Amino acid sequence: MSITPKQKRLTPVRIGGMKGEIPIVCLTAYTTPMARLLDEHCDLLLVGDSVGMVLYGMDTTTSVTLEIMIAHGRAVMRGVRNACVVVDMPFGTYQVSKEDAFRNAARILQETGCDAVKLEGGTEMVETIAFLTARGIPVLGHIGLMPQQVHTAGGFRSVGHSEEEAAKVRRDAHAIGESGAFAVVVEGTVELLARELTGALRVPTIGIGASPACDGQILVSDDMLGIFSEFTPRFVKRYAELGTQVSAASAEYAADVRSRRFPANEHTFRQRISKASPT
Ligand code: KIV
Repeated sequence: MSITPKQKRLTPVRIGGMKGEIPIVCLTAYTTPMARLLDEHCDLLLVGDSVGMVLYGMDTTTSVTLEIMIAHGRAVMRGVRNACVVVDMPFGTYQVSKEDAFRNAARILQETGCDAVKLEGGTEMVETIAFLTARGIPVLGHIGLMPQQVHTAGGFRSVGHSEEEAAKVRRDAHAIGESGAFAVVVEGTVELLARELTGALRVPTIGIGASPACDGQILVSDDMLGIFSEFTPRFVKRYAELGTQVSAASAEYAADVRSRRFPANEHTFRQRISKASPT
């Protein structure tokens, strides 16, 4: 009996080792069909809690639940053969205690089959990340602009402009870089600082609105595909205008239905003429 080996996905350890190699390509994914389309082009797929804003119409990510993340994590895992899959820990599931964080992260890993979790935070999260990684849960850090802290930060705005702000991001980056995290997302951070941190940290930096200096880049897929167009941050490059295409296609469909051009002959089941049986 010959056994075809299962294709191996990239591991968090491998992603961590990509620092200084070619840039690490990352995108978000929330569904099976999208994961299938993105997988072969990406090193890492993030099931981001941005799912709350992109698919559920929430104003911020703070209302996203563990159940939502697990459901979308499972969906993405069904479509992936190559990329490392990371699932976001939603707001409120890792801040209370490191034990609580472990229980929730373990649920995410066990119930989705993903490779790692991501959590937001700087110096205050070091102990938690060390606790998780020491117990077998790979963690991707997330510093700079932290969307789950939108209410205390006073909105979604880039960071590192003042010396005081830059010093805080620097402290956070060094702390997370040494905490056991295999890489760290740096969001909405000025170029000079992102460049300095990328040079200083042992682990890869994955930038989103943090300049080309980072070791890798990530975007919300729906932003770069032009599907989520409520608000497009300055750092997003639109590679397609799928939202416009969906709108045009549905307008054409509506016109066809109203004028009875659809369904046409080729879309219609006609009754087969059965030959009379010989007597
Ligand atoms: O939730 C998300 O999609 C993210 C990325 C923006 C990094 O955290």
